[in-house]
Amino acid sequence: MAHLAFSCFLLLLSFSAFAEAGSIGINYGRIADNLPTPSKVVELLKSQGLNRVKLYDTNTDVLTALANSGINVVVALPNEQLYSAANDPSFADAWVQANISHYYPATKIEAIAVGNEVFVDPKNTTQFLVPAMKNIHASLVKYNLTSSIKISSPIALSALQSSYPASSGSFKSELIEPVIKPMLDLLRQTGSYLMVNGYPFFAYTANADQISLNYALFKENPGVVDSGNGLKYTSLFDAQIDAVFAAMSALKYDDVKLVVTETGWPSKGDEKEIGASEENAASYNGNLVRRVLTGSGTPLRPNDTLDVFLFALFNENQKTGPSSEKNYGLFYPNEQKVYDIPLTEAELKQGGESTPFNGSKSLVPTPPSGDVSTTSVKGQTWCVANENAEEEKLKAAIDYACGEGEADCRPIQSGAACYDPNTLVAHASYAFNSYYQKKSRGVGTCDFGGAAYVVTQPPKFGNCDFPTGY
Ligand SMILES: *[C@@H]1O[C@H](CO)[C@@H](O)[C@H](O)[C@H]1NC(C)=O
Ligand SMILES: *[C@@H]1O[C@H](CO)[C@@H](O)[C@H](O)[C@H]1NC(C)=O
Ligand SMILES: *[C@@H]1O[C@H](CO)[C@@H](O)[C@H](O)[C@H]1NC(C)=O
Ligand SMILES: *[C@@H]1O[C@H](CO)[C@@H](O)[C@H](O)[C@H]1NC(C)=O
Ligand SMILES: *[C@@H]1O[C@H](CO)[C@@H](O)[C@H](O)[C@H]1NC(C)=O
Repeated sequence: MAHLAFSCFLLLLSFSAFAEAGSIGINYGRIADNLPTPSKVVELLKSQGLNRVKLYDTNTDVLTALANSGINVVVALPNEQLYSAANDPSFADAWVQANISHYYPATKIEAIAVGNEVFVDPKNTTQFLVPAMKNIHASLVKYNLTSSIKISSPIALSALQSSYPASSGSFKSELIEPVIKPMLDLLRQTGSYLMVNGYPFFAYTANADQISLNYALFKENPGVVDSGNGLKYTSLFDAQIDAVFAAMSALKYDDVKLVVTETGWPSKGDEKEIGASEENAASYNGNLVRRVLTGSGTPLRPNDTLDVFLFALFNENQKTGPSSEKNYGLFYPNEQKVYDIPLTEAELKQGGESTPFNGSKSLVPTPPSGDVSTTSVKGQTWCVANENAEEEKLKAAIDYACGEGEADCRPIQSGAACYDPNTLVAHASYAFNSYYQKKSRGVGTCDFGGAAYVVTQPPKFGNCDFPTGY
């Protein structure tokens, strides 16, 4: 009876973890003179299973191409138009009419980014931001679009005064009263969310002597304990996002949600841009996708889904700045992949396979399971324990897998082939994988309430062979 109750509990946990998976979108930047036509780009997005895209304007060809595609779209009002939108409600009305209402609902616009990283706009348009957001919102009300279209504005992490440790996160004091609080009030009133652009790459490349690359790339690492609240971080990304949550919490906006509107890693950079490489970009983006689609929220907000827009779809040859700026794309302008990573849940389950593009490389990210091999084995998947899961949860899940779950747990008994290393994570991984393979790798059979996840390379714990069903 106790066993039965427990398994129902696990089932519930795994269903809710499933429902709470985040989403992956992508930024379609167009600062280039060699990109495919918008209609080809829409086909590319569809072929990759990408159903959320973010634009930096309201280009008519792009919005028309996206019509009836089923793809959700975030559009933007560029910084140059903030002044007019702030000072002239009739401009805002005309903008919404011509650039939103004209395309919606055929084009599934879900949000408007009003400006982009406005606080670091060299033209200092900060004072126009909230008035512009208010006017655009008022126009959406006039066109009866507020139930489906949110307004927000992507902020850069440089809006933070403090971000380390994450629990000490705070906004720059000079921004709080003039813009942060009024903006968060508006987001709260309109049921919207904060948009955040975060790049662990910047922190890593500037402090490569202090930050571990594995920590920046979501690979296996000992983690960093936040001295403020004792939470353990195993990725710089999570720590950066939690610094924003902490900054919001300090101002009592714990109820406002957050979407990561940009994050990425360059596949190439200048000599001094330490860490910029194809392999690292594939690891960062691939591990991020897995983390978002299979994981929970961040340590501070474990119950919030993580919605993330990768930066970016294409390498953009007309971007200025260091070489890295031109090399954030997942695709070359000829639509070939710069590196091959899974982008959807189906691909994750298929072992990182995706539509093969000519000349693509297979650089499937290394899972944080101690695996050092770099090649994936076509189509095969394994299940391993989440090393961040609580000890009690792992133990309970082992009991279930080896008991009622009928996993073959003999190899992890004392003296047997997989007893060493004698760690909870190694033993749990063996048990979870056995259960997962016995259940034919069915949906939800490698979850255990978030204590496990699927990998595409054979797990390596000591000399233990992990069976696969293939
Ligand atoms: C619509 O958006 C385009 C591009 O962002 C802009 O140039 C134009 O002024 C907007 N239309 C109106 C009526 O504001
Ligand atoms: C930006 O403009 C605001 C309001 O006019 C002003 O208080 C602030 O000092 C300016 N910031 C910079 C960096 O110029
Ligand atoms: C406003 O939009 C809602 C939801 O899309 C719709 O149900 C309602 O009929 C619309 N109202 C008007 C006056 O068009
Ligand atoms: C997350 O949800 C669980 C289950 O509903 C709840 O017990 C827990 O307190 C929540 N955690 C946070 C940080 O809100
Ligand atoms: C990709 O390769 C296939 C098979 O070699 C070829 O038929 C196709 O034309 C190539 N496509 C492109 C875009 O180069």
